[in-house]
Amino acid sequence: IFPSGGPVMELVEDCGGTSALAVHVEVLVKPRSKTDVRMHVVAFLDHHRVITGNHRWTEFDEQFLRQNVDSVAIADPERGTIDLKGCNLTVHIFTLNNDGLSTLNLEEDEELSAANHWLLPAAEFQGIWESLVFEDGVKTQLLDYVSTTIFFSDKNVNSNLITWNRVVLLHGPPGNGKTSLCKALAQKLSIRLSDRYTYSQFVEINSHSLFSKWFSESGKLVTKMFQKIQQLIDDEDALVFVLVDEVESLTAARNASHAGTEPSDAIRVVNSVLTQLDQIKRHPNVVILTTSNLTEKIDLAFLDRADIKQKIGPPSTEGIFNIYMSCLGELMKCQIISPRQQLLTLHELETISFMESNVSQMSLSLRRIAEKSKGLSGRSLRRLPFLAHALFVKVVVLEPLSNNLPPAFVEKMKNFMLVRSACYNQLVLPIFKHYVAFRLWKYVVIE
Ligand SMILES: Nc1ncnc2c1ncn2[C@@H]1O[C@H](COP(=O)(O)OP(=O)(O)OP(=O)(O)O)[C@@H](O)[C@H]1O
Ligand SMILES: [Mg+2]
Repeated sequence: IFPSGGPVMELVEDCGGTSALAVHVEVLVKPRSKTDVRMHVVAFLDHHRVITGNHRWTEFDEQFLRQNVDSVAIADPERGTIDLKGCNLTVHIFTLNNDGLSTLNLEEDEELSAANHWLLPAAEFQGIWESLVFEDGVKTQLLDYVSTTIFFSDKNVNSNLITWNRVVLLHGPPGNGKTSLCKALAQKLSIRLSDRYTYSQFVEINSHSLFSKWFSESGKLVTKMFQKIQQLIDDEDALVFVLVDEVESLTAARNASHAGTEPSDAIRVVNSVLTQLDQIKRHPNVVILTTSNLTEKIDLAFLDRADIKQKIGPPSTEGIFNIYMSCLGELMKCQIISPRQQLLTLHELETISFMESNVSQMSLSLRRIAEKSKGLSGRSLRRLPFLAHALFVKVVVLEPLSNNLPPAFVEKMKNFMLVRSACYNQLVLPIFKHYVAFRLWKYVVIE
């Protein structure tokens, strides 16, 4: 129904009258790969039927694939299992850009970095999408939103009759993946729209230096910066993502200006940014991504410009469980946890109705730990294995020896470690409260 480059979750009627979901296959090819990769990938997938929505092949029997392809992925964790036979496959072939970050400097003689800049798909951004765990549907919904904006522009829909902006706002408490999601979203779209746009650019505006450091010249510098962005947009073959991180600093500047504590340039900067954003968003090949920790403090004029205002809160218990699973997977891969332990996914636990057995015991305890970790941000959760190792491993290592040591001594050592660590850094207090780290390691390393 939809041409390629249309909405990502398009439904296509199959001959049986049931809806077949479109499945996106992302093929990372080696540099200078041959042109007929697509055909070989389709033949390869023909040998597979039911897979999970988050599947990546990196080893191939066929010599052609071994020589030309790094990975074939169906990176859609929100889908559960997929029957490839009933699906409409879209194959996206891409290579990664290894140039890394470059900065957009405005004044040659000054070390003023106005923005960071990446060519997409960037090697640095690879894997972020899969690592982020949100409530069901959040990632897909955002992907569909941006795809639709591009689809409407391609169809020359009159924006006076149907209004849509190209502005997405992600808001919520710190450390829950807003900035990462913007980067991941841009990376994913650059891969999925590679038939439509030859390449993509990602520009991360440095809001802090824009609104706090630059004073008298700020207005002019904003204009200069947007002129540079405009040059990128002028290339119609490029899709340009502009990230304005921590957009509340716009309001901070305006309020400060009202209070008379900052030069009135601040207000000029804010207005200048808004005007410039209004101008660039007229172009069909631009997407403006914004984030904020403090929604109530965002400039109203700005808030009004965002079509999608998506709250990104701390992960749910299921989300936490999945984050822990990925952490443990990584620790096993690096052989910090060894030997490798078999952990059941939430889906597998559900199918056995959470029954306790030798096989499920560890996963069930991980789930209980996940429940106790509720409220911690994604950032804290991903830091936990590191802190747990740094702070608790010595305690845990005592345990296998504990048979030979007087119990009172072991207990004393544990308490000593806990007290010492608690004073060490207030940041890790939530961990002590939940004893998450301790339990995590006790169960996984020792048992
Ligand atoms: N929902 C999540 N799932 C998995 N990992 C997460 C999640 N949220 C955060 N993380 C981890 O925390 C790190 C920090 O996230 P990020 O900087 O994107 O958060 P943020 O919401 O932009 O925070 P801030 O508001 O402080 O800028 C990420 O690199 C990621 O590893
Ligand atoms: Mg951020």
